[in-house]
Amino acid sequence: MKEIKIESTLYIYQDLDELPKEGILLMQKAFEARKNAYAPYSSFYVGAALLLDNGEIITGNNQENASYPSGLCAERTAIYYAGSQYPNAKILRIAISAGSKNNQTSKPIPPCGACRQAIAEYEIKQNAPIEIYFMGETGKIAKSNSLENLLPLVFDKSVL
Ligand code: THU
Repeated sequence: MKEIKIESTLYIYQDLDELPKEGILLMQKAFEARKNAYAPYSSFYVGAALLLDNGEIITGNNQENASYPSGLCAERTAIYYAGSQYPNAKILRIAISAGSKNNQTSKPIPPCGACRQAIAEYEIKQNAPIEIYFMGETGKIAKSNSLENLLPLVFDKSVL
């Protein structure tokens, strides 16, 4: 038997002021996108903003449905739009902000597992890391230099 240890590195910024400039701009776009989330069932509002290597910024937010599983997270709303409109562009970074009507979100809120899988697909497709910044409504911001840190042992096309 052999034990394998898996390590991930994240960077934690105290607040928006501490973020590098490119992170602040994108996080502000995620804040704006969050305002248009359609989340009448969970009251949990998420905004995502993606910067592409052609300079375009794509935003998305969660879209819920009375048939709950038919809804979609903010990150996938944004990334699938980017993939459909700009199939050849690379995604440089993603900023995500999540807030709730029920309580103040003041710690970094990471993307769900399904969104990590979706982001991984594009990171592998473009063969270049995607930086990910995530936070609540206020407070600290977490940054990962690549999706790999958030989804070790990824399921990818190499096994198909
Ligand atoms: N949600 C996102 O938009 N992104 C995530 O990564 C986690 C969850 C949404 C889905 C649902 O509309 C609400 O947040 C509560 O789960």
